[in-house]
Amino acid sequence: RAEVQAKSLALSEVMTKAGEYYKQQLRHAPNAIAYLKKRGLTGEIAARFALGFAPDSWDGLRSVYPDYSASELVEAGLVIDKSDEEGAGRKRYDRFRDRVMFPIRNTKGQIIGFGGRIMEQGEPKYLNSPETPLFQKGFELYGLFEARQAIRDAGYVLVTEGYMDVVALAQMGFPQAVATLGTACTPTHVQKLLRQTDHVIFSFDGDAAGRRAARRALEACLPHANDDKFIKFLFLPPEHDPDSYIREFGADAFEQQVRDAMPLSQFFMREVIGVNDLNSAEGRAKTQFDARPLLQAMQASGLRLQIVRNLAQQTMTAPAEIETMFELSQPVAR
Ligand code: UTP
Ligand code: MN
Ligand code: MN
Ligand code: MN
Ligand code: MN
Repeated sequence: RAEVQAKSLALSEVMTKAGEYYKQQLRHAPNAIAYLKKRGLTGEIAARFALGFAPDSWDGLRSVYPDYSASELVEAGLVIDKSDEEGAGRKRYDRFRDRVMFPIRNTKGQIIGFGGRIMEQGEPKYLNSPETPLFQKGFELYGLFEARQAIRDAGYVLVTEGYMDVVALAQMGFPQAVATLGTACTPTHVQKLLRQTDHVIFSFDGDAAGRRAARRALEACLPHANDDKFIKFLFLPPEHDPDSYIREFGADAFEQQVRDAMPLSQFFMREVIGVNDLNSAEGRAKTQFDARPLLQAMQASGLRLQIVRNLAQQTMTAPAEIETMFELSQPVAR
């Protein structure tokens, strides 16, 4: 236990140092500065998110870690070690090269990982830290440290997919945004969010992947949804994400999108109806079939009762019949 703690501390120090190094390198990288400017970001916002730059070097980190062979560098995911691989020419090298760097911080502000964006076309567009003892993707939310006060002030949090969405929204006057970082929104993410605020607005990309992410987020929310939580879903046009939308249409238009966001109960019904034909017995039965696991994931609550009633009405069934059929425990009387 003490050993684990000492190890984490060492990794944490390594990450802090790397963050300082990347930040320092950005000052000497006119092309990276130009890239950030082109994406509409000011120096102030770059500083707020401690953005940096990993130079185009195989061992740039050597300049801050004289002991480049230290195991911590590999464990922290900063250095890749290929020495076990047959015919490996270069045995150790920096994971992040020639990329704009986004440090991912925990709620204490300590750097636990990085995302690095390539500036030209290329794959992968974003390279992320691997899972390490400090960094678990299903748990962390990019930007939460930076957004905490703003979430309190705004009374809600915006949940996006990407680094640039968070940074661009902050630049445009919405500092209350975080990102799930490409991975699906997990129940742990939701729990973490609901610890900050009772009002969560998912704002994923408008494309098919974003809509799938919204569906996953709905499922992750159901166990936590109840009568004093407001969970909503904002759907952007297919060709946009929050970053591109707010740049093209401006802050007022985005604000309107926030106001028009779809409440969870409505998204729930839209999802379970899907393409089912409510004018046919089969369509109504299939709608109930699709709703069943989602309702079973919810706690007994007034909100669940409202959804049951709506479903009952749309599928020509009595609410009590749905509750019995789905073996839903009765809401607590109050
Ligand atoms: P997107 O492909 O929507 O990227 O992925 P983006 O944020 O809009 O990128 P820009 O605007 O072109 O810079 C959303 C998120 O998915 C993760 C990243 O966290 C990204 O921000 N992702 C995406 C990766 O981890 N790797 C990738 O190659 C692509
Ligand atoms: Mn509120
Ligand atoms: Mn996308
Ligand atoms: Mn995107
Ligand atoms: Mn984008």
